[in-house]
Parts: sequence; C-alpha cells; structure tokens
Amino acid sequence: MVDLLLGLQWGDEGKGKIVDVLTKDYDIIARFQGGPNAGHTLEFDGIKHVLHTIPSGIFHKNAINIVGNGVVIDPVIFKKELDNLDKFNIDIVSKLFISRKAHLILPTHRLLDAASEAAKGKAKIGSTLKGIGPTYMDKTGRNGMRVGDLEFDNWKEKYRALANKHEAMIGFYDVDIQYDLEELEAEFYEGVATLKNLRFIDSEEYIFSAQDKGEKILAEGAQGSLLDIDFGTYPYVTSSNTTAAGACTGLGVAPNKIGRVLGIFKAYTTRVGSGPFPTELFDEDGETMGRVGNEFGATTGRPRRCGWLDLVALKYTVKINGVTELMMMKADVLSGFKSIKVCTAYTYKGEEITHLPYNVESEYVTPIYKEMKGWAKDLTKLTKAEELPSTLNDYIEFLEEQLNVPIKIVSVGPDRLQTIHR
Ligand code: GDP
Ligand code: IMO
Ligand code: MG
Repeated sequence: MVDLLLGLQWGDEGKGKIVDVLTKDYDIIARFQGGPNAGHTLEFDGIKHVLHTIPSGIFHKNAINIVGNGVVIDPVIFKKELDNLDKFNIDIVSKLFISRKAHLILPTHRLLDAASEAAKGKAKIGSTLKGIGPTYMDKTGRNGMRVGDLEFDNWKEKYRALANKHEAMIGFYDVDIQYDLEELEAEFYEGVATLKNLRFIDSEEYIFSAQDKGEKILAEGAQGSLLDIDFGTYPYVTSSNTTAAGACTGLGVAPNKIGRVLGIFKAYTTRVGSGPFPTELFDEDGETMGRVGNEFGATTGRPRRCGWLDLVALKYTVKINGVTELMMMKADVLSGFKSIKVCTAYTYKGEEITHLPYNVESEYVTPIYKEMKGWAKDLTKLTKAEELPSTLNDYIEFLEEQLNVPIKIVSVGPDRLQTIHR
C-alpha cells in the first residue's frame, strides 16, 4: 500500500516537517508532482533544512527517496540542493533515485515564466518564477524534455531546438526580460552533469516491485489542494494536480493501492502569491500570525498572507483527497489569542452557503465565523496530548466533528520533537 501525505490549504502547511517525522515508519518516500516551487522545511538537532525537489525523507539512513515522473526538475536548483547536503555525509547515490519520465525545467522555461508574469501586470499569478507553468505546458503540449532523454547522445540537440523555440516565444511577449543565455546554459549543463551521477529509474516499475515486497511507501505532496490545477482557486494555482489523484499519475500508483491519506493543515490559513483568500486578515491578528508563525516563503522569502481557518475550504479538500487522518500544524502560533475564529460558512451573492463556490473573490464571498475561546499557554514544550489546554481541545474537537476525520497529530513547533500524537 502507498500512503499519501498532502497539504490541504494553499501550501506551506508543514509537509516537510511531518514527512521527516514519519519517515522512520516507511521504506520509500516519493515526490509525485511540483518542482522547485516547493520549499519544505525540516528542523532537528538545531539545524533547519529547506528542500525543494528532493523528498523530505533524505535525512533518514534507511529510506529510499524517489523523485517521481510527475515532478519537474531544474538541474541547476537540484545541484544547489545536493551541494547543501554535502556536509551531512548522506549516501545520495544509493538513496535518491530519479524517474526517467520526470520533465526537465530549462533555463528558458524560467525566462518564459518571468515574461508571462510581467506581461500579466497586476493580474500576475505571483508565481515563484521557477519555470513551473511553462514546463508543464511543454509536457502537456508534448514538447518537453525528460530526464530519460539525457541517456541518449542527441539530448543537446533536443535541448537546443526547444531552447530556440522558447527564445522566439519570449520575443512574442511585449516585455523587457534581460538575460545572458550563454551563462544560464553553462549552469544548466553543469547541473545536468551532476544529475547524471544519480541513478535514473523507471520509477513506476521500482514502486511496483517495492509493493510486491511489502515495502511501505509514503507519497509526499507539494503545494496544497487549493493550488490544484483543477480544484484550486484557478487561475491562481500551480500547474499540477496537487491532490490525491496526482499521486496516481505522478508515480503510477493505482487507486486501489492507496492506503492512508494524511491531510495536513495549519491551525489558521496562509497563502503566498496572488489570488482570493476569503478569511484573509488585514489587521493586528493577521500581523501577529505572520510574525509569531514566521510566515515567509521558504522558496522566495515573500511574506505569506495570513487569516483564520476556513472550514468551508477545508471540508472541500478533505473530500477531494479522501483524507483519512488529519494533522494540525502550528497550534503554538495561536497561543495568546483571546478568541479564535473559524469560518464555517460563506455569504455568497447574498445567500448563506457551506460549499466552496466557483468564485471565492472577496467581491462575492464574505466569511461567516464561529468564535471560540483561545488559550494562553505556551505549547512549544509540550509532548503529550494530555497536556494540551482545554480550550485548544475544544477547538480540535470542534474541527474533528465538522470534518468528520480524526486529528492524529498536533504540531507545536518547527522541530521534529515538537510533535504531539493523539
Ligand atoms: P511545507 O511547504 O508544507 O513543507 O511547509 P514550509 O516548510 O514551507 O512552511 C512551514 C513552516 O512552518 C516552516 O518554517 C516550518 O519550520 C514551520 N513549522 C512547521 N510546523 C510548525 C509548528 O507546529 N509550529 C511552528 N511554529 N512552526 C512550524
Ligand atoms: P510548498 O510545497 C506555497 C504558489 C505561488 C503562486 C502559485 C503559482 O512549499 O507548499 P508556481 O511557481 O507554481 O507557478 O506558482 O502557487 N506556490 C506555493 N505556495 N507553497 C508552495 O509549495 C507553492 N508552490 C507554488 O506562490 O501563488
Ligand atoms: Mg513550503
């Protein structure tokens, strides 16, 4: 069986931390979509690590880590990630395998991302500018370059043809993008050389045989369900299926081989980049969440927008993914709030609704809140569920009742050890 771990909001829920906590129970950790737009943070032994493309199981001795076919890889960023791991003496070559079917992000994909965003002006997506959209466009347009192409002698010709086409496309945008392609290409070739030191595999075959051997596999999602290309707040989304279905197409996991579906959410909500966010706060409460929660993007450093928990959206993503267990992150950040609000319904075009409508722009949607008592206690040193303050338990139980799924983990700090199992 393959278990899935997914973000249920707009990303940055704390997936990296939880994958790291859970890896000891798994033989294989596999990424199935997204790319270096992701930033997954892990903290242990006083060190903070940020991973972008490499699965969050890499620090555990016995786990195999797989970058699946649904992922897009930028060799330049990948090399930097590997360089950052150098000092930790990890046997990368025997622990990290790459799917031949994963697509490559070319330097010109990044440039196209920048050109597209610049051309959109105020309507920009707020992309991480890692070339994600253009790379997935080439994938679905059947023009892309894949990792497996690098095993054939003509890969440079393929690269050249695609890069030339991209250059012409950049010209179509009426924007001023400055770049030195020669320099970018030198970096790309260097990244490719590093990538080629790793083992390329037919990852679906690898996973079939691991399943036959009874090995335990955890699929690590990137981004969050509300950034899903189909079910997210389109067009302000990423270009992949971040929901459970993405693990089927991004790894070759058959639906009947999916076991537990672990859904991660923050005790409040954040979003980075543009797009609607019904419960967003523009007041002191939002500012406090951002400051105490240290809400800055792990990939771009941009401040994250903050707001109360949105149960309308969360109910939707629990259903889309078939979540069987929940994990609530960053409960510690809400300590000290006199009262906690949670959105239980929307007013949509003048009517009260409890489902996520087609359009959640603030023009149409106003959140309706339930107010609950907060807690003052510092949670960051707690280790047992019995120590949680009663008003926090009330909050947790209310959410469980609304979502009809048990909350199995409450996270009370960024460190591996600041994790309470219920
Ligand atoms: P991911 O993209 O889902 O892996 O999440 P990010 O790493 O982008 O963002 C989560 C941030 O919250 C990171 O800085 C984590 O170190 C931090 N974090 C995770 N869990 C907790 C928690 O329970 N409390 C606090 N205060 N920080 C946490
Ligand atoms: P993790 O895995 C939060 C957001 C960007 C932008 C939109 C599209 O760390 O949770 P893209 O670069 O994909 O074209 O950007 O999606 N975004 C994320 N927000 N966490 C992420 O990943 C994100 N990856 C992309 O900010 O709004
Ligand atoms: Mg992140």
